[in-house]
Amino acid sequence: MFCYLIFRSGSLLGLIAGAVDDRSARGIAAAVSRLVTAGELPTGARLPTVRDVARELGVSPTTVSEAWRSLARAGAIQTRGRSGSFVATPAVPRGRLRYAQLGAGLGPVTHDYSTGVPDYDLLPSITDSLARIGDARLTTSYLEAPVLPPLETVLRQRWPYPPEQVTVVDGAMDALDRVVATLVRFGDHVLVENPAFPPVLDLLDAVGATVVGVPMDEHGMRPEALGAALKAYEPVAVVLQPRAQNPTGAGLSARRVAELAAELAAYPEVTLVEDDHAGDIATAPPVSLGAHLPDRTVHVAGFSKSHGPDLRLAALGGPAEVITAVTDRRLLGPGWSSRLLQAVLLDLLTSPDAEAQVAAAREVYARRRATMLAELAARDVTATAADGINLWMTVEDQQMAMLALAAHGIAVAPGTPFAVTPLGADHVRVTVGLIRDGHAELADILAAAARAGARGSGPRSRPHPRGWR
Ligand SMILES: Cc1ncc(COP(=O)(O)O)c(C=O)c1O
Repeated sequence: MFCYLIFRSGSLLGLIAGAVDDRSARGIAAAVSRLVTAGELPTGARLPTVRDVARELGVSPTTVSEAWRSLARAGAIQTRGRSGSFVATPAVPRGRLRYAQLGAGLGPVTHDYSTGVPDYDLLPSITDSLARIGDARLTTSYLEAPVLPPLETVLRQRWPYPPEQVTVVDGAMDALDRVVATLVRFGDHVLVENPAFPPVLDLLDAVGATVVGVPMDEHGMRPEALGAALKAYEPVAVVLQPRAQNPTGAGLSARRVAELAAELAAYPEVTLVEDDHAGDIATAPPVSLGAHLPDRTVHVAGFSKSHGPDLRLAALGGPAEVITAVTDRRLLGPGWSSRLLQAVLLDLLTSPDAEAQVAAAREVYARRRATMLAELAARDVTATAADGINLWMTVEDQQMAMLALAAHGIAVAPGTPFAVTPLGADHVRVTVGLIRDGHAELADILAAAARAGARGSGPRSRPHPRGWR
């Protein structure tokens, strides 16, 4: 139960006013956040009213409301209608995360295409790799370098630009979590693609960032839209996926990379964070803004899709300032990623057998995408899946589509958690990389689902809200 703590509102008003050194919405939110973190505003404390705070600070109530809204988005406060706003318990409950809305859940599932995971049978064999490694004694001291030196050499050779420093962490999301903790402060603006990967949006919400979606096309963020957002929001970071964008499959062309770099040139304080999660199963060659802006591009190379999600490894490279902050902080936690798993990764990246398995997987995924895209196009369904393992399908009505698919035991991911702001149409994400056969039959079902809820296709009890929120 939420516990109400009523403080003398005058004293809280003075406390908040005393903590605010910047009277913008962002500054007010940051001040309240600092008081919550310091325990001076304890869980359950009722905040003074928006009007009282506005009067005390000499700002408009709209400014305070905006500050309260960003605090609520970050899970720092809860607003309970007329009762007021209260300091919340710190963790955002799982059910409120976008991430939690992705899974199957509309009935018994026989075909789960909601997951975004690779096909297990297309991963290189870890058993073979472990046999090749043998009884390696890889850790003799807690103070050794966190990355196996020969793995670092291989990673540097593969990097799409010369990185100042490279380290290895426990997966792409771990990398992003650590980089965001280093770069982003409460109230900072961060630009992302719209649509974007829901856990990244949750992560940015969790640190109190104000997330701004930048419209994209088949080559990634649109340059003029990035330019306008840089000017309007003065973000600290831009987070993007250079290849096999999840959910759309889009990838940056060399030309688009140059165009985006040109827009960023006038904003030297902005750090680029690239999530190359698909790695070696991407058909497109490695690409990075680091080729133009090496001093401020942090690139994450994921191995979950190509070499196995349970390896829990990703490489992180970029400016020493950021990477050292991550590795130093990590010394106080896990210290390093298992050297045994690093040795497996090194073997998988260098053994001809494993390389051939990954290359074969890349081709199988490309075939599965192309086959399903052709089948859907033949049925007049709009979908994209240029690269990676996901297909992003436009549907008339997300809920109706998911229900229509659930009737066949098929689960897909809803589009809304991916939308930073409404996208103008409903979508679902289908993990097409898992579809081994029966493409034509499945395309019939997907096409019917895409049309479910369209005018003339059956009764609709009420208009369905489009997009996220
Ligand atoms: C865009 C994106 N980033 C990050 C991840 C997570 O990768 P990892 O398993 O390496 O943490 C995924 C996994 O689906 C992803 O799609």
